[in-house]
Amino acid sequence: MHSYTLIAPAKINLYLEIIGDRPDGYHELAMILQSIALADQIDICSISTDIIRINCKHPQVPLDKSNLAYRAAELMAKKFPDAFAQYGGVEITVKKNIPVAAGLAGGSTNAAAVLVGIDLLWNLGLTKSELEELGAILGSDVPFCVSGGTVIATARGEQLSPLPSLDTIYIVLAKYRSLEVSTAWAYTNYRQQFGSSYLRDTENLAARAAAVHSGEIVQAILKQNPVTIAQKMHNDLERVVLPAYPQVLQLRELFATGEGVLGTMMSGSGPTVFALMESEQQAQALKQQVRAAIPDEDLELFVTRTITHGIQVA
Ligand code: C5P
Repeated sequence: MHSYTLIAPAKINLYLEIIGDRPDGYHELAMILQSIALADQIDICSISTDIIRINCKHPQVPLDKSNLAYRAAELMAKKFPDAFAQYGGVEITVKKNIPVAAGLAGGSTNAAAVLVGIDLLWNLGLTKSELEELGAILGSDVPFCVSGGTVIATARGEQLSPLPSLDTIYIVLAKYRSLEVSTAWAYTNYRQQFGSSYLRDTENLAARAAAVHSGEIVQAILKQNPVTIAQKMHNDLERVVLPAYPQVLQLRELFATGEGVLGTMMSGSGPTVFALMESEQQAQALKQQVRAAIPDEDLELFVTRTITHGIQVA
């Protein structure tokens, strides 16, 4: 086959704890990542020239090397030069549904889809863990996006331990179109403000493990208890993003008062805010309630749900 269509789901962070500095300059993290049904569609096909071409109609999506999907194709060409010579370049068409620079891993999941798509196009037969290893070269969230589901992610975010799949939980997401938060900015700011409390890399692993507080939410996930999961959600990056972006704080406060809301949190480095809901009906009602309270067209609202997988061939 010379073309594939892939579904690339977004993620939310049910938990994000910053443990300290890493020798590579990144942060040591303890996260719980969850795939959601909101997804982009990636069409990928071989083209006879040796170029990589990205098509996307979304005004905020770059078509050059600054697009992680482009860099994923470039990485595959570099790692598998014989296959690249045999099959030629690729044309990648991104149908963007996931908000951009939102803390939902939109760019990372597109890159993961390109890795999976090129593996199929070029008959490479790579395993999930080989694809995840390639993903880690591109970005900390890319390995998770390959397989998705419900996962504990540690180290930079690329060390993955799967948790049992969650029963469906409905979710409302809110994101201002024009509001973008750079992940690098969020972490740099966090280091400036809270770096004095970081564990340093010289401290032993036991101290590092003891510093993680995700035990209760993990237990709640194992028991399939959405009420406790929602109560135990946490995101350290809220400490820097919420004070800098009052609109995000306002959304979070509005969500907290909604009927049927089990809990609310910012995802990743933001600025997307999400609410875990008791039912789909209450999720639809909350969406309408927030729309009525903030009739600003810049505000995008989605009703979605947890899913149990990452990249899938359509
Ligand atoms: O890995 P990724 O490219 O997604 O990371 C974007 C930025 O977020 C990094 O350049 C870094 O500043 C910050 N980051 C971090 N620690 C992590 C993950 C990301 O400091 N574990």
